[in-house]
Amino acid sequence: MPSLTVALTGAAGYIASHVAVALFERGHSVVGFDNFSNSSPKSLERVAQIADTHMPFEQLDLADTDGIEAFLRAHQVDAVIHFAGLKAVGESTEQPLRYHENNVGGSLSLLRAMENAGVRHLVFSSSATVYHPDEASPLREDASLGPINPYGATKLMVEQIIGDVATYSDLRAINLRYFNPVGAHPSGLIGEDPVGTPNNLMPFIMQVAVGRREQLNIFGDDYDTPDGTPIRDYIHVMDLAEGHVAAVEALHPTTGPGVDNVEAINLGTGVGSSVKEVLAAAEQAVDHPIPHQVVERRAGDGTVSYADPGRAEALLGWRATRTMADACVDHWRWQERNPHGFAPDPATDE
Ligand code: UFG
Repeated sequence: MPSLTVALTGAAGYIASHVAVALFERGHSVVGFDNFSNSSPKSLERVAQIADTHMPFEQLDLADTDGIEAFLRAHQVDAVIHFAGLKAVGESTEQPLRYHENNVGGSLSLLRAMENAGVRHLVFSSSATVYHPDEASPLREDASLGPINPYGATKLMVEQIIGDVATYSDLRAINLRYFNPVGAHPSGLIGEDPVGTPNNLMPFIMQVAVGRREQLNIFGDDYDTPDGTPIRDYIHVMDLAEGHVAAVEALHPTTGPGVDNVEAINLGTGVGSSVKEVLAAAEQAVDHPIPHQVVERRAGDGTVSYADPGRAEALLGWRATRTMADACVDHWRWQERNPHGFAPDPATDE
């Protein structure tokens, strides 16, 4: 397998750090940049520790088109994986302009830098939130689109911009629509380190389990599901990471079949789990009960969302192999060994 040089935007973040490890494992070269607005340099040290190699890195903002162009040229980059972006749904409804500036504006800047530097392959971190909430699961990529918050709108807009550029230039791109990433690298050295109160279920559960928070609030148990709690498609972050490696390799003619213009591909397991099922799996992994209570529904939550992962298998030869139990064990190892994430001591915690 020929080796590619892959640049990661948002390189110190949760997903990117796991993708870096997976790329190194496959023998590729990895370079990256990040502005550390929602990540820690510590994550880069830990990736180097796991991979036993060092990722050439620069602190750069996506808005710095010239800086990114110079970076891409200097490292003779073959492909970019674009992770950098703001990702809190609730926050996006409070600061819509900031979300569009960062996520859409930042992506435009990156695409300009890539075009100037002659980098023709792009993998974009999109989200299952681009699907219309009324669409039934399993969700296929040709389901109707229609995000219901500014965060989702920015993901769809960036997909559309990439689509136009790829249709009318030599850019080749894959938009990866993530379902719900969970878990951590089995070393326990890297994992999700949310700033402030976690929005997402798994990090919240694990912070309760480790004693950082009192109890989990289950947002409603009166949904039309077997146990009354909503169903999602939780995918182990290492499966997700391997999906990115498969996407980058698929784009490049020396390592894959190539892609016509642009493809949208779900990264999910195809299996749905309810909130109560996730909680039960987490209790197994941590080996003690996790305090919880049922509260009101959270605005904007749908009942059921899980992927049809068939297209990923057909186009990338990739499918998820890890279970919810694996994800809980790995997430717990990370959380237990790093109760305050990458922060050095509790005093720096929120
Ligand atoms: N939940 C709780 N308590 C919590 C947190 C979550 O009960 O403290 C429940 C939610 O109500 C939901 C489920 O757990 O039923 C999953 O919620 P998450 O916030 O973890 O994930 P979502 O499915 O709401 O959102 C995720 C990503 C978004 C993305 C969306 C699209 O976080 O970025 O998937 O599929 F847009």
